[in-house]
Amino acid sequence: MPKSKTVYQCQNCGYVSPKWLGRCPDCGEWNVFVEERKVSVTGQSSRDIHPGKSKPRPLSSISGGYEKRASTGMKELDRVLGGGVVSGSVVLIGGDPGIGKSTLLLQTLSGLSKRYGPVLYISGEESPEQIKIRSERLSINSDDIILVSETSLESILHHAVKVIPKALVVDSIQTVYTEELVSAPGSVSQVRDCASKLMLFAKRSDIPVFIVGHVTKEGAIAGPRVLEHIVDTVLYFEGDRGHSYRILRTVKNRFGSTNEIGVFEMSDAGLLEIENPSRLFLYERPVNVSGSAVVASLEGTRPLMVEIQSLVSQSTFGMPRRTAMGVDFNRVNLLVAVLEKRVGLHLGGMDIFVNIVGGLRISEPAIDLGIITAITSSLRDIPVDRHVFMFGEVGLSGEVRAVTQAEARLKEAAAIGFGRALLPSGNAEKIKNNCGVEIMGVKTVEECLEIIFH
Ligand code: TYD
Ligand code: MG
Repeated sequence: MPKSKTVYQCQNCGYVSPKWLGRCPDCGEWNVFVEERKVSVTGQSSRDIHPGKSKPRPLSSISGGYEKRASTGMKELDRVLGGGVVSGSVVLIGGDPGIGKSTLLLQTLSGLSKRYGPVLYISGEESPEQIKIRSERLSINSDDIILVSETSLESILHHAVKVIPKALVVDSIQTVYTEELVSAPGSVSQVRDCASKLMLFAKRSDIPVFIVGHVTKEGAIAGPRVLEHIVDTVLYFEGDRGHSYRILRTVKNRFGSTNEIGVFEMSDAGLLEIENPSRLFLYERPVNVSGSAVVASLEGTRPLMVEIQSLVSQSTFGMPRRTAMGVDFNRVNLLVAVLEKRVGLHLGGMDIFVNIVGGLRISEPAIDLGIITAITSSLRDIPVDRHVFMFGEVGLSGEVRAVTQAEARLKEAAAIGFGRALLPSGNAEKIKNNCGVEIMGVKTVEECLEIIFH
């Protein structure tokens, strides 16, 4: 007989300890242990072993089943999911409050219901009337979108089994609770248990389930990190409050590649898909102003032209300020050091600001060359030719290293009218189709800056 006892569980990562701890040995967080009732599992003896229902089979005997995918009617979302939503998969969508998660899912359900039939939207946060108001803004009206306001997981599953929808949305996992546990909705054990039960439901019924997850101040999905391990796909919906566009980013995907992005714009009538984000991000680019450089970046399989801006000015404080927005702060510091040591620029007493226009976040090293160019352009107060763009990773000795998919980057730049590219010579040598762009391979940062600023 399993006996019930209390354990202490980390509310951040789910680590279980028999006694209270100040600091979680697993994730390192402080003051995160909470007492929980837990059914302990007794050690397995030979009597516990039984055949069950599963049967081991050799790999060669299994016929290659291609996942069935359904199109959501939104190309941007389909791509992020790896080519449509896989039946029986569980997709977690995280994001700040008010970013547009509920809107995205309502539009998704509308697309799915038009193609495949009835869908079920379960909201633990809003009443059906509130959802109706939103749907009117989105001009969505359908007999096939069924709404329920419910927070009990058992009732949710009851409705789901009754309706047999083509897709199920649970908005949000933090408001849902299972009656089997006494802890409050949103606690680690509740979130994890509810997610596992939804996962089981999805796998058994072959119905795709979308779960909305709230995000903590630190930007991670609230609740246990194990939640991300349970589900098949994790998407983050991001965006800047000051801007109207939104980016849907894959963080994990069992059925497709990660690092894919979808770009949307939040309009008066819901989310619009942006098929050509490069144009959007370069729309307001100032011409003939120093401190601006355009790089051909790559998000997943998708090339994206982005503008990097820098402002370098004499510091009035003893400690010069370094600020990086949209790029890794340490990376900027490293590149500044490369510029000082290898190119001989005097940046010691300067305040340096680097920003990726439009509130984008880019972690790819191929933007290094753009950061270097923007900083130098601002320091010397010489604008970069508006038809020039660049990409390339910069190493500590000032060398420019090759990056992946150079041709895809060239193609995107050519499509929006760029004429000259500075790229790693390692890439330049291998280019077969230059897409009409003049190519200049560079080996070092110095060489690159020499070409741009003569
Ligand atoms: P919502 O989907 O409720 O966000 P979440 O579920 O992530 O909390 O979106 C809320 C925001 O989106 C709100 O500030 C209003 C704005 N919005 C629009 O600008 N246009 C629209 O058509 C809709 C439906 C919402
Ligand atoms: Mg919402």
